[in-house]
Amino acid sequence: FGVDSVVTLNDFEKYAQGVCSDECWEYYSGGADSEHALRGNREAYDRVFIRPRVLRDVKEVDTSTKILGMDSPAPFYISPTARNGWSNPIGEVASTIGAGRTGFFQILSHVASRSLDEVMQAKADGQKIGWQLYMNMDRDIAAREIKHAAELGAQSIWLTADLSCLMKNVRIRSGSVKRNPAPADKPISRPDKPSRLSERHDPSLQWADIAWIKEVTGGLPVVVKGVGSWEDVVLAKENGADAVVLSNHGGRALDFANPPLKTLQDIGKHAPGLLKDDKFQVFVDGGIRQGTDIIKALCLGASAVGLGRPFIFAAAGWGPDGEMEISMRLMGVKNIQELGPEYLETSRL
Ligand code: FNR
Repeated sequence: FGVDSVVTLNDFEKYAQGVCSDECWEYYSGGADSEHALRGNREAYDRVFIRPRVLRDVKEVDTSTKILGMDSPAPFYISPTARNGWSNPIGEVASTIGAGRTGFFQILSHVASRSLDEVMQAKADGQKIGWQLYMNMDRDIAAREIKHAAELGAQSIWLTADLSCLMKNVRIRSGSVKRNPAPADKPISRPDKPSRLSERHDPSLQWADIAWIKEVTGGLPVVVKGVGSWEDVVLAKENGADAVVLSNHGGRALDFANPPLKTLQDIGKHAPGLLKDDKFQVFVDGGIRQGTDIIKALCLGASAVGLGRPFIFAAAGWGPDGEMEISMRLMGVKNIQELGPEYLETSRL
């Protein structure tokens, strides 16, 4: 499968499978335990249909929006993913360069192959980068890391809340992997051990820590990533978060965790006032692979979506924005503010 055959994000996946080592491929593509959460993320989008409207003059279509107050050409951003250097010599910097050319927003993983310093050096003028945080059990270390990110110019801190202990990647544990990844970039902590506590994943993390992070950064936006129930979205807002990501870590944390699209639908039912609010944004990630997936999440009230695996597998900024424009035209929608639940058939979600 050659790079010339790439047309959709799913094609990137096939291409990447051909070029990654077995261990690398299983690490990137795998999920936790029986992988129900991983499959559920994708299946949720497949169960929703669209109710298009016609004859509405869709000559001009605008997909642009704001993510945490920043302009974005389309309502999606690059989710933080660890160890991009396993498959590519410049690691996360590849996404930084692509995002710089196209105007997309990148969140760098705390356990990235390339440091935030390197990413900041590679970024374009005015390009915004967010930084993802795994809270260290030693709060002095955590405070130093957060301050360093703020000093380097990280625009926001994305606190990952759904991994209070390390998950196990069942494919790697099963021994199906034969070859080793590139020795130059071995993992910091190997994903093949059963779930365990790690100093980087503080299990005593709690809501009051949002205020602590804000204080340490001097007021940068804080996003809580990995929220899986509408009640926790209410708590995130009450505790001063600027946004949440409805996410189950791409099916890599708690198996059977609710598909984020379903959690989004729950917010619409129980706390609709939290949606489409400029001061508190709700993002969604997990299983988003095409423009219509983004549209479905936006119709249910998300402000934007994150893409994880597709950006590991592909050059940044190529694909879903073009698809979105086509789909919006075919739906009779001119801009993303017009999207709403009336465009969806969700009875099977
Ligand atoms: C991740 N994800 C992740 N999240 C995070 O907060 N910090 C991290 O270091 C990582 N690392 C990571 C590695 C790999 C290989 C994957 C696939 C994912 C989760 C990521 O941010 C996002 O939530 C999911 O990837 C979204 O699902 P999709 O788009 O991959 O289906």
